[in-house]
Amino acid sequence: MSFMILQTPNPHTLKDALPNFTGVSHVFLPINDCRNVTQAEGGTHWSLLLISIVDRVAFHYDSLYQGNVWEAHTVTQKFGYLLNMQIRFMPLNDSPQQDGGSDCGVFVCVNMRQLLEKRLLRASAHEKVSMSLGGQRVDASHSRKEMAKIIEGFRKEGERRRSSPLRPFIMAKKQCPLQCHLEPIDLNEETQFSELQRQRTICGWNYEQQTLQSWKENTNFKKLFWITTPDPDNETKSIRAGHISLDPSSGILEPGLLQGDEIDLSLSTFFILPEHRALKLGKKAVQFLENLAVTEPYGDPRCRYITLCALSKRYIYDERWRGLWSKVGMAQPPFSIQEWYENLGYTTWKEVPLTEATSLDGETFQVWEALMRKDLRGIS
Ligand SMILES: CC(C)(COP(=O)(O)OP(=O)(O)OC[C@H]1O[C@@H](n2cnc3c(N)ncnc32)[C@H](O)[C@@H]1OP(=O)(O)O)[C@@H](O)C(=O)NCCC(=O)NCCS
Repeated sequence: MSFMILQTPNPHTLKDALPNFTGVSHVFLPINDCRNVTQAEGGTHWSLLLISIVDRVAFHYDSLYQGNVWEAHTVTQKFGYLLNMQIRFMPLNDSPQQDGGSDCGVFVCVNMRQLLEKRLLRASAHEKVSMSLGGQRVDASHSRKEMAKIIEGFRKEGERRRSSPLRPFIMAKKQCPLQCHLEPIDLNEETQFSELQRQRTICGWNYEQQTLQSWKENTNFKKLFWITTPDPDNETKSIRAGHISLDPSSGILEPGLLQGDEIDLSLSTFFILPEHRALKLGKKAVQFLENLAVTEPYGDPRCRYITLCALSKRYIYDERWRGLWSKVGMAQPPFSIQEWYENLGYTTWKEVPLTEATSLDGETFQVWEALMRKDLRGIS
């Protein structure tokens, strides 16, 4: 992509071939110094350009001091032209420098990971973050081994998926539901914190460091659980396939329903990783959560209703509302989440414009959500 932008005189002619950058905050572009478009593996050096669209700045990390400065600067200008904005080019001359003659690619990968994991994903929207990698040491030989390990991991994972006992489950998922458990999430443990942040990032909302930090500090408010399933490769281990939360009342219950000392709790922050979907894990997780809601220590025996908000099914079934998906540049989901909850016994009492969304052309508008509830009487 960056090579095409670099080599094409008018980058607007590439629009159809490039991803849609609406709503994108940062773009990582590996820069190569090849000048010959007919040569498949030309060029001698790689560097990294990180374009912050939100801040309109392009940071250039070059492991051979200013080796690719012309290429990176040109890509910055063309990218700005493509997005109709002025982008400031900032070469970070304190970037880690390579000793060997063939380590530039390793430096690009290591720097990219460092910037993503240690800077962008850890920052909150209002916080200023230094994008300098000055003082970082890159051990090229160790990093090569680590990269080889990651690639080998993906290769094995591919092999496992092609041949694993899970495959028949995926092929015949309706007949073969997986086992599922809920395990409390401990955000004080760093690995759990980063796994939840990874899953939230894939989910697409509530992934900011600040949000997760507030969940970590308010365990009385929000009770988060991993949705786990046994690892098909090792039955003694489990996979964290998603997460779900039991929260206090969100105040959306239809007035007048609670009697005596009854209370309501709410279901939120519910997500199953795409590779584990449609295996009935979601369904079971909700059923487990309903049981937890009426039992101590996580729930309360006085809990009468579970409430939740779900995107209105009008966006799936009603011709007049289906335009939402193209309007925000998303693919229409294969099923309605409101209907999904209805199949689990939840009823809608009201639909309200609740969530703010932004269209591709920058217009903000309200999205209608169904306020749903389930009577837990009888669940013990
Ligand atoms: C919604 C979500 C949690 C469901 O989890 P899941 O584990 O994939 O769902 P399950 O396998 O338990 O659901 C089974 C039912 O869902 C429906 N369903 C699931 N995937 C489907 C698909 N791709 N197409 C059509 N129906 C589908 C079917 O009705 C199925 O019932 P059936 O097997 O009896 O026919 C999951 O898809 C997800 O995380 N989505 C993104 C985040 C989200 O929408 N969260 C909810 C916010 S309120």
